[in-house]
Amino acid sequence: MASPQQINDLQDAFNRATVSGSPGAVSTSPSQSFLQNQFRSRALSVSKHTKPLKPFSAGDMKILLLENVNQTAIDIFTEQGYQVDFYKTSLPEEELIEKIQSVHAVGIRSKTKLTEKVLAAAKNLVVIGCFCIGTNQVDLEYAASRGIAVFNSPFSNSRSVAELVIAEIISLARQLGDRSIELHTGTWNKVSAKCWEVRGKTLGIIGYGHIGSQLSVLAEALGMNVIYYDIVMIMSLGNSKQVSTLNELLSKADFVTCHVPATPETKNLLSAPQFAAMKDGSYVINASRGTVIDIPSLISAMKSGKIAGAALDVYPHEPAKNGAGLFADELNDWTSELVSLRNLILTPHIGGSTEEAQSAIGIEVGTALTKYINEGASVGAVNFPEVSLRALDLDEENVARVLYIHQNVPGVLKTVNNILADYNIEKQYSDSQGDIAYMIADVSGVSAGDIKSLHDELSNTPFKIAIRILY
Ligand SMILES: NC(=O)c1ccc[n+]([C@@H]2O[C@H](COP(=O)([O-])OP(=O)(O)OC[C@H]3O[C@@H](n4cnc5c(N)ncnc54)[C@H](O)[C@@H]3O)[C@@H](O)[C@H]2O)c1
Repeated sequence: MASPQQINDLQDAFNRATVSGSPGAVSTSPSQSFLQNQFRSRALSVSKHTKPLKPFSAGDMKILLLENVNQTAIDIFTEQGYQVDFYKTSLPEEELIEKIQSVHAVGIRSKTKLTEKVLAAAKNLVVIGCFCIGTNQVDLEYAASRGIAVFNSPFSNSRSVAELVIAEIISLARQLGDRSIELHTGTWNKVSAKCWEVRGKTLGIIGYGHIGSQLSVLAEALGMNVIYYDIVMIMSLGNSKQVSTLNELLSKADFVTCHVPATPETKNLLSAPQFAAMKDGSYVINASRGTVIDIPSLISAMKSGKIAGAALDVYPHEPAKNGAGLFADELNDWTSELVSLRNLILTPHIGGSTEEAQSAIGIEVGTALTKYINEGASVGAVNFPEVSLRALDLDEENVARVLYIHQNVPGVLKTVNNILADYNIEKQYSDSQGDIAYMIADVSGVSAGDIKSLHDELSNTPFKIAIRILY
């Protein structure tokens, strides 16, 4: 086992080779042209027969993009003719307040805080795109109360996580982490004892959602048997089989991997009794959320040899930024004990961190924002009722789409439909979530002159939060 000094030396050498950009460093990343080709074809395309709608009274769409949002999103917005104001970083609060005043949409990642104070300054804002998974940097409730929909991208990185887990399964079975660190520090240790092929072994997946099911397909391609446990009955992919209890999974699997959300039920889902129920010499992987595994119990199970190896990508407390010395006992008091274990792969929450995932996030959120701006479709919004109407046909003339966001109180639709009653309501859909409700209606027989009066009348209704008309 490498000494702490050897590990430090190794870390210094590694930093010199990567962080400072060694001239001889070789990039193994796929070329930009590969990424562009792969994702361009999936970018938003408007059907030839679909009537493009434009907003009444909003002028040119202005979108503020912060924190180096992916190019795929910029391409989508510029193709739509939106005015894009792009920044590589987040902005200081005062500057953000100034910039947000006039824009219709804003795209951020995790660093920009869209607080009530910031959002209160936004006079024209209709939608926020979080080009990431989390949305707790946005005051979602306040945004909803102002009629501002918020979108994120929860599933664009599922494949990236599944591939990392595949890499970890093989790495643990072959003790790759230990062999690599030994050789980096000068120790030749050619061993085959307790090193295994994964073919024919059983993978137990806890949580068969977006990531778990992708992983299942990949693992079967490696010749593994796959079983899974989920609180919901889910149709299996390939030859994988759902088991009815967690204990059944634990007692049968050679590798156990967690892909559940962080909920009160999944807190310490794997703790001392669960490790005891596992096969001797089995392996544990967690790339879901840090609360799912009770790490002190894992440490004990690994020390006793019950668990032969583990890979962790997530932790109860994680540093807020990159830097040396941050993953320490001050953060989680068991850290020094954990890092001393053998056949333990530790990664800094990189499961979803790939170029492909970033491109896919750009497309997913960019498309959601565009559909909301152009069509009013709020499907996938995190703070808002999810409503959508099919697009209008090209040959539909004198049709206007009314997007009406209002407080969820009795009588509102009666008032609105009285105003719309002079026209033919072709289709209408309404839904509510908590205090907010959202109605879309396509009304025909509306001349250009009618739109202004329709807009004025609907704007003056009680309980209205926001209104847009597309035509
Ligand atoms: N490491 C990373 O970088 C990274 C990246 C993306 C997602 N994640 C995390 O991975 C986890 C899974 O993500 P996903 O996209 O597959 O989620 P998902 O919502 O698609 O799937 C989760 C599955 O877990 C099941 N489940 C919920 N509670 C359960 C319980 N108590 N026991 C068994 N099954 C339960 C659900 O029914 C669902 O099928 C999440 O915690 C997510 O935050 C991590």
